[in-house]
Amino acid sequence: MSRRGGSAAACCLLCIGLVGNLNGIATAGPGFSRQLPCVFETSKFIPLSKETEIIRLNVRLLLSGTGSKGGQRPQPENLPPDKIPSFIVQESSADILPYANEDIEMLDCRISPYYTAGTQIVWPGRDIRASSSDAWFTCTITHTAGKYTTTVFLVQERKEKEDPNPGQLLPGIGEQLHVSAPLLVHSSPTLRRSGLAQDVWLHCAFSTAHRAEATVQWVLQQKGGHRKRLMAYSGSSKRVEGLAGRAEMVLEEIPKGNASLLLRNTEVRDEGTYSCSVSVASLTAEQAIQLQIEEKPTVTVNVNSLSLVEGEQHKLVCNIRHYYPHDIQVQWLREPKDSWKVPDVVKNVLSSSHRQSSNGTYSSSRYFLLTASLRDNGHRYTCRVDHPSLRSPIRRSVTVEVREATSSAWLLLLLLGLAVSLLGALWYHHRVRSTAKTKPY
Ligand SMILES: *[C@@H]1O[C@H](CO)[C@@H](O)[C@H](O)[C@H]1NC(C)=O
Ligand SMILES: *[C@@H]1O[C@H](CO)[C@@H](O)[C@H](O)[C@H]1NC(C)=O
Repeated sequence: MSRRGGSAAACCLLCIGLVGNLNGIATAGPGFSRQLPCVFETSKFIPLSKETEIIRLNVRLLLSGTGSKGGQRPQPENLPPDKIPSFIVQESSADILPYANEDIEMLDCRISPYYTAGTQIVWPGRDIRASSSDAWFTCTITHTAGKYTTTVFLVQERKEKEDPNPGQLLPGIGEQLHVSAPLLVHSSPTLRRSGLAQDVWLHCAFSTAHRAEATVQWVLQQKGGHRKRLMAYSGSSKRVEGLAGRAEMVLEEIPKGNASLLLRNTEVRDEGTYSCSVSVASLTAEQAIQLQIEEKPTVTVNVNSLSLVEGEQHKLVCNIRHYYPHDIQVQWLREPKDSWKVPDVVKNVLSSSHRQSSNGTYSSSRYFLLTASLRDNGHRYTCRVDHPSLRSPIRRSVTVEVREATSSAWLLLLLLGLAVSLLGALWYHHRVRSTAKTKPY
């Protein structure tokens, strides 16, 4: 009975960032409280090349606020005098305004036709005969910093003999499309990061123009490719069906438009794409939230301080434990006494392979053999670890103290003394022989 709006919404999402926004002004003329620059995207089949061409057109979405009453059509003189087609959203619609009230530079708005492929979309409060020729659109408003995504269905209610070609926008013609928004689904944020063993809310909200029974479903697409149904709520039975442990929904909240999912005690295998799909009558809108597990490493170094004799060797080991995901940057640095100097990166550092614990976290180590030289005295060796879970790198340091090798120094002096006396003896011998030579008679 339901056609899925997911594919249309996904198409909108794919094209994000390809087309720049109009430099729209946030507030519109009287009667509108918000004007949002949007890109209208549609595809056209070219029979000769058998290819489809994507057509993009700058349009605007006009939202009326509390100023105009009772779905009254705004007066044309209130519209900016240009040739940009306008989607004028009527009052009796799902409330888009809260999701369009951000800094306009941060919002990406796409509108696409929603092809009903001949099937009639039945909607509460609509005469079935009248709805057969309606033009449907999906509008996706995405916050470019990942704060949220909102998908709205728009319908241009067409009366017979009014417009022979609904939903066919022509470039350069300042058309006005009066639309209403029967269903809106909103998720925030679009990327959710969480540590292990946490309780996480995945926020999904919906709004309808008419009182209607909504059916909600949460599905997880795991990283490995498995699809798992987590939760289902049926509007007719008013019951929540939990299909997986650790996932919950608040039953009383759902009829109010709050379809948020609570995931308890997160695990590594919870990573993936969560989609919240809301069906009302024969419309289904879907919104996806990415869940990324990030667990901070604990970093230790095998010694706190080192006191070595010149020439002595010591293994410095940096242990990095229980982090997730796998990608990690580890460096051993040799830091000079003057802290303003750039530290040297220690070469010849070896690493152990990553070991994985039963909870999915990784551990590994980085080590090198330090041969003490007097130049190292007072220097610090630092293990610096950077990981996606960290705001700034973790640093663990060892201060190295290097003493002169006293015993060998005595030996050296002794050898030097011997050498000197040997040289002295040789020189004397030479003198004696040469004096002997200069006596030819
Ligand atoms: C939805 O309900 C949950 C549980 O009561 C609450 O924590 C959350 O803030 C609600 N979300 C919205 C958007 O109201
Ligand atoms: C993961 O498992 C390891 C070893 O069993 C444990 O030390 C670590 O604390 C666990 N991490 C979390 C977040 O539970």
